[in-house]
Amino acid sequence: MIRIKGATLTYKDGTTALKDINLNIGAGELVYITGPSGSGKTSLLKLLMGVEYPSEGEVLVLGQKIAKEEKRRIRRLRRNIGPVFQDFRVIKGRTALENVMMGVRFLGFSPKKMKSESLNALEKVGLKHKYSSLVENLSWGECQRVAIARAIIRKPALILADEPTGNLDLDNAVSILELLSSLRDDKTSVLITTHATHLIDNQKDAVFIRINGGRITMEQGGRA
Ligand SMILES: Nc1ncnc2c1ncn2[C@@H]1O[C@H](COP(=O)(O)OP(=O)(O)OP(=O)(O)O)[C@@H](O)[C@H]1O
Ligand SMILES: [Mg+2]
Repeated sequence: MIRIKGATLTYKDGTTALKDINLNIGAGELVYITGPSGSGKTSLLKLLMGVEYPSEGEVLVLGQKIAKEEKRRIRRLRRNIGPVFQDFRVIKGRTALENVMMGVRFLGFSPKKMKSESLNALEKVGLKHKYSSLVENLSWGECQRVAIARAIIRKPALILADEPTGNLDLDNAVSILELLSSLRDDKTSVLITTHATHLIDNQKDAVFIRINGGRITMEQGGRA
């Protein structure tokens, strides 16, 4: 599902955010990525989304090579990825339902199917009762659930969540992590970056990856 061989990511300004990353993730894995601020966690997710390209080495996501010349195919690949990123969370002035429906805009669903699928997704994240609320009237944790509903509505093979517990108190952080990890199934892998190491160390069957200074310094766990 994910194969990274000797990948380096150097940004335009010369900052090398990832160095010689080697990583294999199979289908249906739950992966936690931890590491200090600035260590390269978000950069790794951006590589997997095809928002950035490796400066060296090779990155394959769901069989698709991540490289500049593959832009069109990367756009298609993204339909199979559910992103829960902080910089594109929810759209203000729209309801929870409308925000989720944006996740299936380009899939050619009928309006009726778009609505029913979106309501299903909101139900999965425990927010169906708020479907008609404007997102600015929702709490941060509820907005996070809207973002997750929007990400899962396409039934993506890969869910990428960047710091999903960032601004949440303990209870909400735990329930968001539970929700995200419950989305893992045989076909769906879930990757989560988090600072909340104390919340994830009892997770069975998960892969734990630690990044420091752009390098993977620890990798353990998994289902095998
Ligand atoms: N667009 C960019 N251009 C230049 N440098 C960048 C860019 N984005 C990130 N960096 C740098 O790359 C390094 C890794 O950043 P990244 O955002 O991946 O870290 P992170 O582990 O996600 O940190 P945090 O825990 O604070 O979110 C940092 O030194 C950061 O300053
Ligand atoms: Mg980050």
